[in-house]
Formats: sequence, C-alpha cells, structure tokens
Amino acid sequence: MTDEVRRAADILRRGGLVGFPTETVYGLGADASSREAVARLYAVKGRPADHPVIVHFADAERAFEWAEEVPAGARKLAAKFWPGPLTLVLKRSRKAGDFVTGGQDSIGLRVPAHPVAQALLKAFGGGIAAPSANRFGQVSATTAAHVKHDLGADVALVLDGGPSEVGIESTIVDLSGDGAVLLRPGRITRLELEQALGGLIREKSADAPRHPGGLERHYAPKTPARLVPPHELDREIARLRDKVAVLAFSRPDERVEYWLRLPREPLGYAQRLYAALRELDGAGCESILIEAPPETPEWAGVRDRLLRATT
Ligand code: TXA
Ligand code: MG
Repeated sequence: MTDEVRRAADILRRGGLVGFPTETVYGLGADASSREAVARLYAVKGRPADHPVIVHFADAERAFEWAEEVPAGARKLAAKFWPGPLTLVLKRSRKAGDFVTGGQDSIGLRVPAHPVAQALLKAFGGGIAAPSANRFGQVSATTAAHVKHDLGADVALVLDGGPSEVGIESTIVDLSGDGAVLLRPGRITRLELEQALGGLIREKSADAPRHPGGLERHYAPKTPARLVPPHELDREIARLRDKVAVLAFSRPDERVEYWLRLPREPLGYAQRLYAALRELDGAGCESILIEAPPETPEWAGVRDRLLRATT
C-alpha cells in the first residue's frame, strides 16, 4: 500500500473527504457510517439531502452486510460483475444509516475494480459513501485533474489513478422490490444482466426510487448543448450564426469554430465523453451541437448521458 493511500484512509477515519479513482468515474469519498462525514460530503457536492448516495466496499461479503436481504438475483449479479461497474440497490440493513440512503429503506452498493479504489477500501476497512466527484448536476470527473478543478480546496486529498477506463457511471439495478429494475444504463448492458440473472429486467417506471441520475437535466455542460441526428448535422451547421462547438463522429467541418471527434464505437466513446464535454464547455462557444449516436442497445449508456446533457 502506498503512503498516499494510507493517508487517504486516515483522512476518511477522521471524517474528512478524499477524491479517488474508480473504473467508471472518480468518486468523492466519505466514511459511510459517519453522519457528520456524510453531511460534509453532501455540503461539498451541493447535493440535496434526500438524494441517496452509493456505498463502496472492497468485496461482496462486506457490501451485503449493509443489506437486510440479499435476493438470489443480487448474488448472481455480484458473482458475475463484482468487482466492476455495477451498483445494486437492495433493502438496507441497520448498518446503513438513513443519512446515506436519502431517508429511503434501500441502499446502493458497489464493489469497484480499480486497483487504487480497492487499495483504499481495504486500508479503510468499512464502507465509503461516494457520489461522482463533481458538483451536483454537472459533468462527472474522469481524471484527478477534473476533481481538483471542480472541488479544489474542498477536498483534502485526491488519489490519482489515471483516466477512468469505463468513463460513464456504473449500471444501477434495483433488486429491493419485486424483480429487477434497471435504474441507470452503463457499460454492463441490459442483455448481459439478463443473461447473468436468467430473467428479464424492467425499465425504470415513474414511481421508481428517486435518484439524481434520474433527474431530467444532469451531467450537463454550462454551455447550452443540443443533440442532432447525423443526417441533420450538415444543415444545422449551414444555418449557424454563432460560434459553435461540435462533438461528432465525422471529420471536422471548416465552418465550425471548435470540432471534437469521438470514435463510432460505444466503449471508446464513453471513455472520453466527459473529458470531451468539459473541453467543449471551455471552448468559449455559444452552443454545443452533438451528433446523436445510433439507437442500438450497446449505445444505451452513452445515449442516456447525452440526453441528460442536452435537456
Ligand atoms: O459509477 C458510479 O456509480 C460512481 C462511482 C463513484 O462509483 N458513483 C456515482 O454516484 O455515480 P452518484 O451519487 O453520482 O450517483 C449515484 C446514483 C444516483 O442516481 C443515486 O440516487 C442512485 O445512484 N442511488 C443510490 N442509492 C440509491 C437507492 N437506494 N435507490 C435508488 N437509487 C439510488
Ligand atoms: Mg453523479
């Protein structure tokens, strides 16, 4: 274990906050069993108190101690995808205080795979409550530099684990009620989940538990952004009056002030998405146009984030 990881675990024990890498996005961590530490986390994040936060553990055994009941489906998904980019929502046990669940009787649990996250979780021993390490409603952080830029002096230490490999937040499956419900799409697709479960997963309905990932506008740049179908991109550009920044699959167009190209492949696209949105946001343009990705299942996670960024 490095000195930095040991220092981070000490900060957590004293009720402080640390930024740390996971394979999805960077997290802003606090001791999940300390009401004061979690209150500090919500204050820094700017998150409303009734929004639950995910609690991270080194392994499934420790994670499941925070659940009142672990249905067979949860065990199957954990066996297949943990450690990894999956969050399970289960009924909470008495270990999970209402201050991490936003007052709900369920809890979001995750066992991340990133070696630095694993080292920190092992050194700390307990659960680490961690939302994505950005201010509420803004673009998530996928590098240590993003975290320092967004949270600066409000976070004592940021562990640097390089750019996040997945790039978008974990897939969230709710198993706290009847059956399984997909609350947030991510790298692990619905089909993979259904294969591991041996059953169907429902889409989130209107009365699903509240979660900020479910708010209409989220993961959003400050510059107004719009999603444009590929066949309309050329016409939109021809009509432009203002300085515009474009995120596209195709080659740069010389009529456009700022052009960023991402791969026509969902894993590579997801990996670079948030850094790209941050870069476009900083380009000093009046608006951002984003070429819409295909409407196929493997793009579901990316499409979800783009829809929220452009609402
Ligand atoms: O990949 C990730 O999940 C990252 C890394 C840091 O682990 N974390 C993350 O946290 O995205 P956050 O707080 O930005 O988003 C967590 C989502 C929210 O939409 C939250 O409401 C939902 O998980 N969530 C947590 N506990 C829940 C619960 N008991 N019921 C329903 N949704 C829950
Ligand atoms: Mg977030």
